Amino acid sequence: MDKARKLFIAGNWKMNKTVAEGLDLAKDLKRDLALVRDVDVAVCPPFTGLYQIGQFLDGSNIKLGAQDMYWDKFGAFTGEVNAAMLKDVFCACVILGHSERRQFFHDTNETVNKKTKAALAARLKPIVCVGETLQERESGRTELVVKDHVTGSLAGLKAEELVEITIAYEPVWAIGTGKTATTRQAQEVHAFIRKLLADMSDSSTAARIRIQYGGSVKPANAKELLGQPDVDGALVGGASLVARDFVDIINNARS
Ligand code: PGA
Repeated sequence: MDKARKLFIAGNWKMNKTVAEGLDLAKDLKRDLALVRDVDVAVCPPFTGLYQIGQFLDGSNIKLGAQDMYWDKFGAFTGEVNAAMLKDVFCACVILGHSERRQFFHDTNETVNKKTKAALAARLKPIVCVGETLQERESGRTELVVKDHVTGSLAGLKAEELVEITIAYEPVWAIGTGKTATTRQAQEVHAFIRKLLADMSDSSTAARIRIQYGGSVKPANAKELLGQPDVDGALVGGASLVARDFVDIINNARS
């Protein structure tokens, strides 16, 4: 693999899998990915599965991630979990600002920014999601929206913090729809994001930050998408729920 940045492929299980089902999937992945060292791999089960799946994967080459968190340290925030709690159940990373959370649960750049800072303070690596809707793309506003998401969600972060972050570019119109951005569309936005990151820090910092693509990534399109110069991995939803598909995505990306 000749990319400067090591590929990072994460599975976002969303609201799927009981603990037992998640453990079954984790068992298959641990077995089938045991020899993979040249790609960083993570799975992000729902909160209920984190402890047991994390315990099962602990010490393996598959890292554990959560799908969201709250920024405060503790207290009267019914229904929320904080970064320390996620660390406590083996999490190494956390997805923040996923478009489904922005759309259905009122996440904004401001709250994603607070969550990102809280995750970093707890040494939890954030995967910060950004991306435009179909309407925004069709009205020529992709760059505006992506810029707003990137600069807003990462406001105030220093270069040494930015390098701990992974950005996931996920065009909303490609999520769960079977429509994938073309390699050209993906590369264009990824390069644009890298330029924004350079403007926020410097070009050598920007060159170290991994930018994942997300939105209907499948075994059949993984190699081409992840072969683009600024595509450094994938955030995989639907296809991460089937061991064979997730393993094939990783192997196809490596080949
Ligand atoms: P998808 O989801 O792979 O099912 O399109 C990606 C995501 O939402 O992270």
